[in-house]
Amino acid sequence: MSTKTCWGIIGTGNIAGKFADATRFVEDAEPLAVGSRSQETADIFGKRHGIPRRYPRYEDLVGDPDIDAIYVATPHNSHHINTLLALEAGKHVLCEKPLAVNAGEAEEMIVMARKKGLFLMEAMWTRFLPAWVDIKARLDAGEFGAIRSLQADFGIELAYDPKHRLFNPDLAGGALLDLGIYPLSLAFWLLGQPETTSSWAELAPTGVDQRAAITLTYGGGRFAQLNTASDVWSMGEAQIVTEKAIVRVHRLFLDARSYEVVDFDKTEIVRKPYENGFEFEVRHAGERIASGQTESEVMSLDESLEIMRAMDALRAEWGVKYPFE
Ligand SMILES: NC(=O)c1ccc[n+]([C@@H]2O[C@H](COP(=O)([O-])OP(=O)(O)OC[C@H]3O[C@@H](n4cnc5c(N)ncnc54)[C@H](OP(=O)(O)O)[C@@H]3O)[C@@H](O)[C@H]2O)c1
Repeated sequence: MSTKTCWGIIGTGNIAGKFADATRFVEDAEPLAVGSRSQETADIFGKRHGIPRRYPRYEDLVGDPDIDAIYVATPHNSHHINTLLALEAGKHVLCEKPLAVNAGEAEEMIVMARKKGLFLMEAMWTRFLPAWVDIKARLDAGEFGAIRSLQADFGIELAYDPKHRLFNPDLAGGALLDLGIYPLSLAFWLLGQPETTSSWAELAPTGVDQRAAITLTYGGGRFAQLNTASDVWSMGEAQIVTEKAIVRVHRLFLDARSYEVVDFDKTEIVRKPYENGFEFEVRHAGERIASGQTESEVMSLDESLEIMRAMDALRAEWGVKYPFE
């Protein structure tokens, strides 16, 4: 049985390019085709990344019988429709984060994938990086004792542009869905579902969130403090306080190549370099697809749905509603 996965990519933007380059580091991944909204863009992208088949419509891409799986790399508001298109055509899907714009959309995608028996996963690449795999394994093994708190932030300073993906409500913009999802997903991964959530947000003139502070509590005094912003920088670090040590992941925690374990009298530095960053999620998805699994145990569909529900609740609290909702 072949273990190779032939990938088709929907979209030709920044992150589609990073994915195409990542496949070079994965033996069993072949970037076979790309789909764009125009032939010209598909050709430029295909030439740049060595992708032989280039389609001018996403419908044509998913109709290619030689493609096993589709990587969805379009703006947030298109994840739902592009994923359904691929699933309906019988393709497995790795969909960029956030899985969808809201829980309703995510549920439809999950129901369809399960009904069709196809693989679907949110491309939360951070969870597959060697540094984070290592940290999670050590935490799960109890090496540091229980987690007491988590602090994580991800903020970037963009000049305000109402048309930009991050500020444009028509593209489901906002700091939370684009950037804040990293610290939020980390909190769900390490601490599970919170008992309480409290938050503050400041909105951009377009009505989407541009700064937010979120506190989650878990009982037993455990808590997570998360920040995000699209108009002001933050260090982009994560700090996990445990019973025996503090695990520090420096800027940027989401693309960690090393981490520190700070004990009372010593600091252990662990380096886990890599080439691209997406190669680990590509390999993970390919292996699951080849072995007939329809979900990832690392980024499960139920957890993606819980995270979407948490983001829905935060946006409702802040009064952020997209025009198409
Ligand atoms: N994992 C990560 O590190 C990471 C980082 C950044 C972004 N992302 C996620 O990846 C997705 C894409 O982000 P990106 O930075 O690659 O965006 P981008 O550079 O704007 O590219 C998006 C692509 O989607 C296609 N598209 C379809 N409908 C579109 C529309 N209405 N407006 C604009 N483009 C449209 C376009 O390709 P065609 O014109 O060829 O159809 C475009 O090139 C987002 O969901 C984002 O959250 C992930």
